[in-house]
Amino acid sequence: MASDRLKNRKAIVTGAGSGIGAATAVRLRADGAQVFTADVQGDVDFTADLTALDANARLVEQAVAAMGGLDTLVPCAGISAFHPLEGHDDAYFRRVMEVNLVAVFRLVRNAVPHLKAAGNGRIVTIGSTTSSHGDEGLSAYSASKHAVLGFTKSVAAELGPFGVTVNCVQPGAIATAMTAPAFAQMPEFRTFWENKAPLRRLGQPEDIADVIAFLCSDDARFMSGHGVWVDGGAMVRH
Ligand SMILES: NC(=O)c1ccc[n+]([C@@H]2O[C@H](COP(=O)([O-])OP(=O)(O)OC[C@H]3O[C@@H](n4cnc5c(N)ncnc54)[C@H](O)[C@@H]3O)[C@@H](O)[C@H]2O)c1
Repeated sequence: MASDRLKNRKAIVTGAGSGIGAATAVRLRADGAQVFTADVQGDVDFTADLTALDANARLVEQAVAAMGGLDTLVPCAGISAFHPLEGHDDAYFRRVMEVNLVAVFRLVRNAVPHLKAAGNGRIVTIGSTTSSHGDEGLSAYSASKHAVLGFTKSVAAELGPFGVTVNCVQPGAIATAMTAPAFAQMPEFRTFWENKAPLRRLGQPEDIADVIAFLCSDDARFMSGHGVWVDGGAMVRH
């Protein structure tokens, strides 16, 4: 339900051209935040491949200019595909790390002075169930998402004294453009996740966006450094 609980927040949301990022931008705005969106595609405020060396610096600069400050980061941009180890080339592994991890690091690093100045900054990174577990064909993705969770914890330790909270949302299987090809090619994969979740369904982008909005709010002011499963309960079951 929309509220005004984020009415003074000035947020960057990446990956906002699709899926979870797009739903997050909608939800943060519905709760009163100013949101500056970024993606390599789609209807966003800043269009760039965020792995480009200077992209995150330019993003922060333009967001601060547009909103008059910056206190909240939600780096949602990410990629995934099934790649068995055999035939898994260096370029793909590096690409996954660049998009899912290095670009997140650069965004956070470039935003630090603004988050410190705000005094009540918020960072919500996007991990995965594969931040804590593995899966066949997802070695690069899982490595990147484990790293995002580790990064989150260290940034929480470093920025906590400046009033910044840093948490990592770990979605289960969510119906977005990322998962659509796998669900189409492997219907049994979709059924597996639907049955694994005690709530017996796939997640929708809004299921994740609503938790992100909570973590950006003052209600979550004493919560930092944690991975938060948002998976319909899937990971409590073997
Ligand atoms: N869908 C799921 O089941 C699921 C589960 C766990 C975690 N996640 C994570 O959630 C986040 C959002 O994924 P989604 O499911 O909404 O997927 P999505 O494909 O719908 O959205 C991802 C967005 O990231 C953008 N993007 C990718 N590479 C980029 C780059 N180099 N520069 C700028 N933008 C780039 C894409 O253009 C796209 O709009 C990702 O980090 C993903 O790993 C998704």
